[in-house]
Amino acid sequence: KTRRIPFVVANWKINKLQSEIAEFLDNVNSKVPSQTVVETGIAAQDLFLADMVRATQDSPIHIVAENVHWEDAGAYTGETSPRALKDIGATYVLIGHFERRKFFNENDSTVNLKVMAALRNGLRPIIDVDEDMSKYAQFMDAEPSVAQVASALAGVSVDQIRNITIAYEPTWAIGSGEAATSEQAQKAAHLIRQTLAKLYSPVIAEQVRILYGGSVTPDNASALLQQPDIDGVLVGTAALDPVKFLELINIAK
Ligand code: G3P
Repeated sequence: KTRRIPFVVANWKINKLQSEIAEFLDNVNSKVPSQTVVETGIAAQDLFLADMVRATQDSPIHIVAENVHWEDAGAYTGETSPRALKDIGATYVLIGHFERRKFFNENDSTVNLKVMAALRNGLRPIIDVDEDMSKYAQFMDAEPSVAQVASALAGVSVDQIRNITIAYEPTWAIGSGEAATSEQAQKAAHLIRQTLAKLYSPVIAEQVRILYGGSVTPDNASALLQQPDIDGVLVGTAALDPVKFLELINIAK
């Protein structure tokens, strides 16, 4: 397996409040290994991100936004600009999470605009691709994710691709308690890597990290992370718990 630094990302969605975040970070900050061993990130609601950046300044944890607007500035009431995220010290941003696509009408073209906006402002996109449940049930394949990868990356240069992480999250596995099997997840991740090889080159495809997300727990993480094309995990529910978050990081390293 090509050595890509494993990446464990918590996605708290809209679940944690200020005091809970402070307590969580107090708890984990000093226990997270160096980012040369395993990289870690936590995605939370925008209004907490600046505090989180300050609270993790002596820790290797990266602070991750859950969404970003596609323009650098302007009249877009209620949105958060990529410039503002960069300004407060966020490193990564999730783009195109299934919940954004489902509840907020995000589509392949807005995802692509957001990817370009993030890159232009020095943020590293974690592009979320899913696979439609009905299609999965019918065909057991990951083709929709492949199409999402290609359109999300339209216009992304060979130099920029190094800043991209792809997260594969089958819709039916998100929050369901039923993760993909490691074989299913590997198959999808491999297809995504082949797509990157076609779009860029096999060498570049080997450098891009691909994460799996959807009901990851300390119990199933090790089998998933042993797969040749799975370089990390994107974790919702389990990562709300500091003990499980640290366990996952230890499994990944
Ligand atoms: O982005 C990660 C998330 O969608 C997965 O959630 O609760 O299934 O780990 P969960």
